[in-house]
Amino acid sequence: MAPDSRAPKAADGTIAVHGGESRARPHHALALGIAQTATYTFDDSADLERYMRGEDADADREEYGRYGNPTVREVERRLAALEGTDDALLFASGMGAITTAMLALLKAGDHVVLFDDCYRRTRQFVAAWLTRFGVEHTIVASGDLDALVAAIGPKTKLAVSESPTNPHLRCVDLAGLAAACRARRVRTLVDATFATPINCRPATLGVDLVVHSATKYLAGHNDVLAGVVAGPSHLVSLVRDLRHVTGAVCDPHAAWLVGRGMKTLALRVARQNETALVVARRLEQHPAIAHVDYPGLESHRDHAIARKQMVGFGGVISFVVRGGSPAARALIDACRLARIAPSLGGVETLIEQPALMSYAELEPAQRAAIGIDEGLVRLSVGIEETADVLADVERGLAAIA
Ligand SMILES: Cc1ncc(COP(=O)(O)O)c(C=O)c1O
Repeated sequence: MAPDSRAPKAADGTIAVHGGESRARPHHALALGIAQTATYTFDDSADLERYMRGEDADADREEYGRYGNPTVREVERRLAALEGTDDALLFASGMGAITTAMLALLKAGDHVVLFDDCYRRTRQFVAAWLTRFGVEHTIVASGDLDALVAAIGPKTKLAVSESPTNPHLRCVDLAGLAAACRARRVRTLVDATFATPINCRPATLGVDLVVHSATKYLAGHNDVLAGVVAGPSHLVSLVRDLRHVTGAVCDPHAAWLVGRGMKTLALRVARQNETALVVARRLEQHPAIAHVDYPGLESHRDHAIARKQMVGFGGVISFVVRGGSPAARALIDACRLARIAPSLGGVETLIEQPALMSYAELEPAQRAAIGIDEGLVRLSVGIEETADVLADVERGLAAIA
């Protein structure tokens, strides 16, 4: 039977609270402490020599903050437990995680395949930066596994995908992707930021490396930037070795905030799944809305894939307002609860018009060519009462009726 990411969900809420924790803490504290230190000390030269020979009793002992930190390490263990992977690493941001992982896996002469709906900075890194170091790439239509397989050549070493994607919430058949790539000895890297490990665990579907912008759902409070790479020990250790060099490490205080946020991840995501579905259904039947992208809707083109590999469908909805940019602006400006901001996945409901923010540097025709309608609105529902989020959306809809 195909692996099922829906299977091990019952324990997720518990793992999000306790996964990887050590029970013995300084001062018998219940909560994880913040080891806010840049360096570590040695009692005497013999202590240092024992450490350098790898004979220290504490396997997690470090000499310097760029190589490790106990606060960061405990949160990393919890992330690995939640993702169902051997190991996980925290980074200073999602982009720190993605760029370090790609640099660790690739070398000059290699080729990468990625989907066109990947986060634009990920695409930019591959198209504008990796090419400078002799790494070639092919971009194929999101979710088109046949096109992906056709693009794989003898030099292809990595396939990069997201699921769901931003802003169209395309869902990629991750088991199919992993199987197709594995058969051709191509590694897979999936950005599962929008899914969260509560809704989908790509590693259980055969994906090699899972990355997250922990800035979003994992930390969940719109107050910290962080990133994650999770996967098997042999790949994670390659990425860790490069993190030691590039230094995109997560500060201990930021890691603590991620760990604290994760304790409520399962509760938050359950509420966000529920609210988003209610709001998406309402938007879908409103005459002022031309189109709604939400993987939980039967009308979404990837609904069948989403149902197969996701528990819930996430907290982000994208919709096109009839009347283009002026109508989208009017709807957004009438909202009182939803704040205008580019991020997503946190406790606060956020709203944005991609044509005015993430894709503002493009001309309307260029935006149209990549499917960014002038009237497109992206809504990230928070954990406020579902009725209040819905009422806010109704306020926006009333403004354009
Ligand atoms: C899907 C996805 N991946 C990666 C990133 C980058 O993460 P960060 O902003 O934490 O660097 C983002 C940011 O919006 C994102 O949406």
